[in-house]
Amino acid sequence: MAIFVSASFVLFTALVPAWTTAGQGLPALTQTAPASTTVTQAAEFTVPASADVGMNIIPNILDPQAVDPQHVCPGYKASNVQQSDAGFTADLQLNGPACNVYGNDIEDLTLLVQFQADDRLHIQIQPRYIGTENRTWFLLPEELVPRPSDGSYAQAALRKLDVTWSNDPSFSIAVKRKDTGDVLFTTEGKSLVFEDQFIEFGSSLPENYNLYGLGEVIHGFRLGNNVTRTLFAADVGDNPDANIYGSHPIYLDTRYFTTDESGELSYAANPTDKGANYTSYTHGVFLRNAHAQEVLLQPSGITWRTLGGIIDLYVYSGPKAEDVTKAYQHSAVGLPAMQQYWTFGYHQCRWGYQNWTELQDVVDNFAKFDIPLETIWTDIDYMKKYRDFDNDPDRYPYDEGAQFLSKLHANGQHYVPIVDSAIYAPNPDNPLDAYAPYDRGLDANAFVLNPDGSVYYGAVWPGYTVFPDWIGAVLNGSGAINWWINELVIWSKLVAFDGIWIDMSEVSSFCVGSCGSGNLTLNPVHPPFDLPGEAGNLVLDYPEGFNLTNSSEASTASSMLYTQTATAAAPSSTTTESYFRTTPTPGARNINWPPYAINNFNGDLGVHAISPNATHHGGYLEYDFHNLFGHQILNATYHGLLAVFEGKRPFIIGRSTFAGSGKWAGHWGGDNASKWSYMFFSIPQALSFSLFGIPMFGVDTCGFNGNTDLELCSRWMQLSAFFPFYRNHNVLSANSQEPYVWEAVASASKTAMHIRYSILPYMYTLFALANKDGDTVMRALAWEFPNEPWLADADRQFMLGGAIMVTPCLTQGASTVNGVFPGVGDGTVWYDWYDFGPVTGVKAGDNVTIDAPLGHIPVYLRGGYVIPTQDPGLTTAASRKNPWGLIVALDKNGNASGQLYLDDGESLVPSETTWVQFSATHGSSLAIIPQGNFVDSNPLGNVTILGVPSAPASVKVNGKQLGSAAWTYSAEKQFLNLSDLSDGGLSSGAWGSKSIITWS
Ligand code: NOJ
Repeated sequence: MAIFVSASFVLFTALVPAWTTAGQGLPALTQTAPASTTVTQAAEFTVPASADVGMNIIPNILDPQAVDPQHVCPGYKASNVQQSDAGFTADLQLNGPACNVYGNDIEDLTLLVQFQADDRLHIQIQPRYIGTENRTWFLLPEELVPRPSDGSYAQAALRKLDVTWSNDPSFSIAVKRKDTGDVLFTTEGKSLVFEDQFIEFGSSLPENYNLYGLGEVIHGFRLGNNVTRTLFAADVGDNPDANIYGSHPIYLDTRYFTTDESGELSYAANPTDKGANYTSYTHGVFLRNAHAQEVLLQPSGITWRTLGGIIDLYVYSGPKAEDVTKAYQHSAVGLPAMQQYWTFGYHQCRWGYQNWTELQDVVDNFAKFDIPLETIWTDIDYMKKYRDFDNDPDRYPYDEGAQFLSKLHANGQHYVPIVDSAIYAPNPDNPLDAYAPYDRGLDANAFVLNPDGSVYYGAVWPGYTVFPDWIGAVLNGSGAINWWINELVIWSKLVAFDGIWIDMSEVSSFCVGSCGSGNLTLNPVHPPFDLPGEAGNLVLDYPEGFNLTNSSEASTASSMLYTQTATAAAPSSTTTESYFRTTPTPGARNINWPPYAINNFNGDLGVHAISPNATHHGGYLEYDFHNLFGHQILNATYHGLLAVFEGKRPFIIGRSTFAGSGKWAGHWGGDNASKWSYMFFSIPQALSFSLFGIPMFGVDTCGFNGNTDLELCSRWMQLSAFFPFYRNHNVLSANSQEPYVWEAVASASKTAMHIRYSILPYMYTLFALANKDGDTVMRALAWEFPNEPWLADADRQFMLGGAIMVTPCLTQGASTVNGVFPGVGDGTVWYDWYDFGPVTGVKAGDNVTIDAPLGHIPVYLRGGYVIPTQDPGLTTAASRKNPWGLIVALDKNGNASGQLYLDDGESLVPSETTWVQFSATHGSSLAIIPQGNFVDSNPLGNVTILGVPSAPASVKVNGKQLGSAAWTYSAEKQFLNLSDLSDGGLSSGAWGSKSIITWS
């Protein structure tokens, strides 16, 4: 598969330019454009490409010269073990001469083992002596990332986990599941390495282990045992297996067992026997550590390496995946934000909508083609020279925007603009370049600094920029958060936006070091690469196999292909085998070039990001907080939106996330490509974000980089209709990909949107449950069917909640798809969404070929569930006024249950809420039991009961017999449909009081 980099840049391997001074204090360089650099706009200076080139680093995991810490480090010995009700503590002391392998060894450590809850164990290892001067080298402040509470402890008898330790040959610790004796995590056989810039610990794992999580990564859902996960927020495209935008140091570990006659469990390393009875246990491991880190997954186990912090480990016993994800969210990262109802409508975006008129055309086209459109988005095109909080006066003027937005809002639709993370620093020599948000930010001490206390100037879209200092704001009370809130409030009075899209938050900077220091008089400057579509290095290609089926499309489209031209941006031909390596300095850390080189996709940590030695107010170093910029901008934006929309749930979609970002925002998958493979990757990425506690997830539907085509876009529009966040987004200069561009895509989209808008009440209820209990929304089949080991890596199908299974066609040119019907071995019944008929003749684990012609996405309902629906409209507001429906999918015993959550759809703390419980029993009755004070007056218009084996003689609603015209029965598909419930008193206000529907 082609590796590509973000829309924004091309990566070079080159010798370090002499002027690269990041890390050396204050770079104050005057840059001159090399003769060969393309200057794309008249008088605008282009930052030289060399400005974004760092040291030539070889990642440790690829470095043949790298020292294996396990070969040289002595480990520790435990002493002074003290038992307490909570667990125990011990002292750990270096067990031999220091190795100082990638930092300075810490001689004295303390160990804390706490049974914080019956299903949660905390293991903490940290230096015994931490001074104020080196506190943030090690301790992650709770103000930035809260700690799971250690206030109450589980009594010994209730603990599901057990801990043992040993000093032989050096300190190791093991965690066992009490009821099975299974060792979940053990450091036995691996020396603990604890240095000021490097920690290594790890565990052996059983053969063929099943691990999930450790994101953000583009990878299959099951991580496998031959991958190194690097966690370091980076502005890169969605490159498989690379470190990308977010950091989530948590994994799930699922183990399958067989049971013999005496009840003894045996671990099943290759559980392929479809006839055997398997049981599974899942536990979770969360490392509360925000430093750059790497997790090596190898056949024998897992090795965790971090460039700082401490070992602050939480083991969750499960035993089901949902137990782990719930406990993780409840105890550690917080429950996901409840979203406003409208956010579940369809979102249309692209980079390249030129003005309000074009935006209006897009909105009009959706109406013209009768395609639901909830929200129109704008990318950086709306900005005046790419400056946040400032509209382009010619293309996106405020007065015209006000008219556009009032019409949009009157139609029940919404608008979300992008807001970038960096703030333009105006040219001090040009009074016309004045930019008030910058001035106000400077006054508020809102920006990140250089080590000498001057302001750090990097470069992003608008030119040389500054970066809001969230870390200083949270830890030291400097002004970034209040300033940001104020800017959002001021701008909201000019542009009536409904939510905010946060981009470039890793945080991205297009040059190494404070490259703008001393150069602001050049501003505005052009980025050191061509923007997509500018003459230069861009080839907009098509999905794999494009020519196979779309020859007519290909010929029209090929005329639009951009061709490659040689520019100064061509990679250097002088590659070198000489790498830049550093070794530990006694008593000091090497901030910009730590001795252990992680496998950062951008190489040098300071490339395409602000430098590790950038300094936050209060003296905190970026090195210690890099992974939290994207997290904390979401925090600040959340509070900004609370100030703009008092009492309403903020809607934010952010790019860089950390453990816990879900409590403020959703996430989109970043810069994917219009490739079939990326449509597939959207599923494992979404499932991972389910376990990270960020259910509001979706990807750039139809693909971002490159041109999409009819077939891919058609399939993708249908697939994304089942993701919580449903947005089509496209790179600048690529061919248009709104669903109405092709008739077939329009039609496929409408089909899928019809389903999506019908099940919005179900989706909204799933979010309410996520927000209340930490339930997941998109779910892996393995989570819902834990006893089927062949589902361990199933990531081409998924569940939406417990009731709906989606089996998308992900293959170019195909008209069928293979899928499994989990649970059938245990009697689970599946029904086809489209004809309500039961799926028959399928055995456990069978890979079934399912018809999936273009325009059709296979969707199945799981017996045992009641799914609330509402007749779909073109907007969510219109849908919310329509009659309700229920689909009752009976299980093999004639039972089903479900629920519906109702509120005003927008209040942060709604004053009126209602929960409706549905319960079908004995294949003959459905009870509807509402509880709460939210009043909804829409009727119950339709009830469809699936799995009714014979035609009933009578159907009653609240004791009143329905006339024969009010219901029908399909003998062929075995379902009963009630299309008029007015006789039963449900014609106004379906959920006003208890109701019962019977059929017999
Ligand atoms: C990078 C983002 O990932 C992408 O979605 C956006 O279109 C560009 N920045 C331009 O703002």
